[in-house]
Amino acid sequence: MKKLTAVVIGYGMRGQAYAQYAIDNPEKLSIVAVADIEEDRLELAKKNHNISDNMLFRTWEDIVKQPKLADFAIIATQDDMHTEPAIKCMELGYDLLLEKPMAQNAKECREIYEASEKYGRKVIVCHVLRFTPFWRAIKAIIDRGEIGRPMSMIHMENVGIMHQSHSFVRGNWRNSVESSPMILAKSCHDMDIMQWVIGKPCKKIQSFGEVTYFNKANQPSGAPDRCTDDCPYAEECIFEPVRYYTQWKENPWRDTVANKVGATDEEIIEALKTGPYGRCVFACDNDVVDHQVVNMEFEGGCTASFTMSAFNKGGRFTKIFGDKGEMDANMETDIITVYNFKTEETKEYELEKIGETISSGHAGGDTGIMEDLLDYFGENKASDSICSLYTSYMNHLMSFGAEESRLADKVVNLDDFSNKI
Ligand SMILES: NC(=O)c1ccc[n+]([C@@H]2O[C@H](COP(=O)([O-])OP(=O)(O)OC[C@H]3O[C@@H](n4cnc5c(N)ncnc54)[C@H](O)[C@@H]3O)[C@@H](O)[C@H]2O)c1
Repeated sequence: MKKLTAVVIGYGMRGQAYAQYAIDNPEKLSIVAVADIEEDRLELAKKNHNISDNMLFRTWEDIVKQPKLADFAIIATQDDMHTEPAIKCMELGYDLLLEKPMAQNAKECREIYEASEKYGRKVIVCHVLRFTPFWRAIKAIIDRGEIGRPMSMIHMENVGIMHQSHSFVRGNWRNSVESSPMILAKSCHDMDIMQWVIGKPCKKIQSFGEVTYFNKANQPSGAPDRCTDDCPYAEECIFEPVRYYTQWKENPWRDTVANKVGATDEEIIEALKTGPYGRCVFACDNDVVDHQVVNMEFEGGCTASFTMSAFNKGGRFTKIFGDKGEMDANMETDIITVYNFKTEETKEYELEKIGETISSGHAGGDTGIMEDLLDYFGENKASDSICSLYTSYMNHLMSFGAEESRLADKVVNLDDFSNKI
């Protein structure tokens, strides 16, 4: 296999997760340049990938002023900083690994798709679930016809109460105007995976949901807006941030709190006194939903319902009903069962449990996407998990359509919705 080179734009949590593949597989990939606005991230990139100083750039604009420096670009900046670097990189001739959401609105997603056609570039959107052993197994079971033709699907995304509080109440994805609505920021993975396993485009979509819990009405009487201001509920509150961010040393979000790689407990406590993660979860400027349902109809008549909820430990569950059998799949246990209507037998598939290290993050999806990417960009071999950018774009429209439905209280016909963009 040909060794490929990449530049990383945005060396934060996600940029580092994908770049880790080059550290683990130096014979297959090397990171040759990095752009990030934070000095300590550039220092870390320099150390991790042995990058010379003239290949470290402070902003994405600086890196795209250079001629093409590598085979492909990894774009892992925040949601509002995908469109311009993506289009500029494609113009320069880079293929792309582009973080989801492609962009924050349907028009910009369309512009990215059109640029990929114009410049003839390959783009993989980081819908990492497609690249996990779990979802690959589900797709293969359906493609082998084990449950027959999919008739309906129930899918649930349990975000997890602490994940919700960190990312969607206090953190980067709390506000739909600053980042994206929940259905795009978090559940665009679920829209994509449901369309992929059902195997047909979604035609109609409808949604309900709101912020019912994480709001001012639920703030206990006498609780200060900032937890570090002697909150009388500190002992009993599960969201008390000093305990949450300092006592659990493996907490993947520790560095986010102080915006510093390898932050100490003291730096975290200091950051909690003034920063967003020290705020009472009932007194933040969050507006993204804490629970949502989406109903869908796919071409050919398959129907599906999706629930996203904050109020759980976390994990995804799925049931898919076909005309020959039904499937039950639990991403927490990695157990998939298939009941066959004719034989009346239940077959259990148990996948090897993947430890959650940075290199096997997202249940193996982060490594899986890099492996398939190298085959696709380097050898032009597309695995079943790879899809066209048009498909990714249309699957993003499911999220935008669902949000339109939720806000306008109507059923959205996705063909009409797409024609308006
Ligand atoms: N695929 C997934 O499952 C998944 C999971 C989490 C996040 N995401 C997405 O990945 C993206 C990045 O998320 P993250 O958690 O890594 O965020 P992050 O904040 O950790 O990383 C973003 C990086 O971009 C850098 N940056 C800011 N301005 C810049 C500029 N002008 N030029 C270059 N770099 C700049 C920041 O300093 C930071 O290091 C987001 O779009 C997010 O929605 C995807």
